[in-house]
Amino acid sequence: MGFSRRLLLWILSILGLLSIASGARLYSSSVSKQKLDVQKHLNRLNKPSTKSIQSPDGDIIDCVPMSSQPAFDHPYLKDHKIQMRPSFHPEGLFDDNKVAAAAAAESKVRANLIKQLWHANGKCPEGTIPIRRTKQEDVVRASSVKRYGKKKHRSIPKPKSAEPDLINQSGHQHAIAYVQGDRYYGAKATVNVWEPKIQQPNEFSLSQLWILGGSFGEDLNSIEAGWQVSPDLYGDNNTRLFTYWTSDAYQATGCYNLLCSGFIQINSEIAMGASISPVSGYRNSQYDISILIWKDPKEGHWWMQFGNDYVLGYWPSFLFSYLADSASMIEWGGEVVNTEADGQHTSTQMGSGRFPEEGFGKSSYFRNIQVVDDSNNLKAPKGLGTFTEQSNCYDVQTGSNGDWGHYFYYGGPGRNAKCQ
Ligand SMILES: *[C@@H]1O[C@H](CO)[C@@H](O)[C@H](O)[C@H]1NC(C)=O
Ligand SMILES: *[C@@H]1O[C@H](CO)[C@@H](O)[C@H](O)[C@H]1NC(C)=O
Repeated sequence: MGFSRRLLLWILSILGLLSIASGARLYSSSVSKQKLDVQKHLNRLNKPSTKSIQSPDGDIIDCVPMSSQPAFDHPYLKDHKIQMRPSFHPEGLFDDNKVAAAAAAESKVRANLIKQLWHANGKCPEGTIPIRRTKQEDVVRASSVKRYGKKKHRSIPKPKSAEPDLINQSGHQHAIAYVQGDRYYGAKATVNVWEPKIQQPNEFSLSQLWILGGSFGEDLNSIEAGWQVSPDLYGDNNTRLFTYWTSDAYQATGCYNLLCSGFIQINSEIAMGASISPVSGYRNSQYDISILIWKDPKEGHWWMQFGNDYVLGYWPSFLFSYLADSASMIEWGGEVVNTEADGQHTSTQMGSGRFPEEGFGKSSYFRNIQVVDDSNNLKAPKGLGTFTEQSNCYDVQTGSNGDWGHYFYYGGPGRNAKCQ
């Protein structure tokens, strides 16, 4: 390289440093810093993809190579060998196909028609997983970049029967069924899918199951999955499939979906946080989804299955303390946030927005609820309890029969003459 060329390069690099320095000055205002933080966070969350699919609901689904998914940002997972299938699958009491066939014969429930909206516009190639792309406005809606993808309030429904409440869950309302007092290794449910109305954009309505470990203290472990409507998290009112986990009562660890490292996804067809469609209508067609979460007795990871066919992936055992061993409580049901924005109870709906008394086609349900025991068998829940903070706002009613096993109807309209 000639002297003049080297001089030129030297001058160019000085100019480069100067422009970086002035750029840094320009970014010194806090607004610009926030923008930079948002961009950095987006770069962390959105992994390079081999293909992107535009969904009709406005989402972009990125097909990300399995080995580049967010889980592998975790220092403990640097050398993790992905498990492509669980070592063991729980043995069932109910023959799901028989139950589904019986229900379909009565043309009651159209379980197998449920799809994710983005499927209309493409598929992710083998070896990749579909990830809902996080947009700038998604992060900006959060109270801070750090809180994006995390629950804002700690929110565990704590049945009255147990010890004093250690978690201030003011603002959260539940209508749930639960079991406790044994060691549980998983849970299953088929959940009716609706699109409840949300009064305030910072409220949400969800229907899910909780796998809980430990007592209700600062180190509570929880694995959660179901459907939710959350304008704050997704920017719309669509019903979406979601998961959540925490190992410290919603403080520093865990997040929704794949919005932090933890869950390892192996499935190329189902995207966490994507819209599910169709949803049920009042006195109209009913749709439901099945969710099974269980602990693999060999590796100890917590696996999740959606429907009869989709094994989504697993939460590695090391993420948890209590749940590294077993769960101490299982809960199923609904939760809403009640901000009382106008000084009265929210009119955000839970489930279908109707009370349990109305029954099938009107009120939302969980059916075939089961737990996994220490022999990896699916079993009916023993000693099923129910809990709700204000049954005049949202309520729950359990039952059992041959077709549906243990089931319950739950939900309500929120604000009404008896709930102000
Ligand atoms: C719970 O938090 C709310 C505010 O979010 C507060 O008004 C209330 O006093 C708290 N309750 C307890 C028992 O700490
Ligand atoms: C969501 O629903 C509320 C009313 O329930 C409405 O005010 C709001 O505009 C809707 N948001 C979007 C993004 O559609």
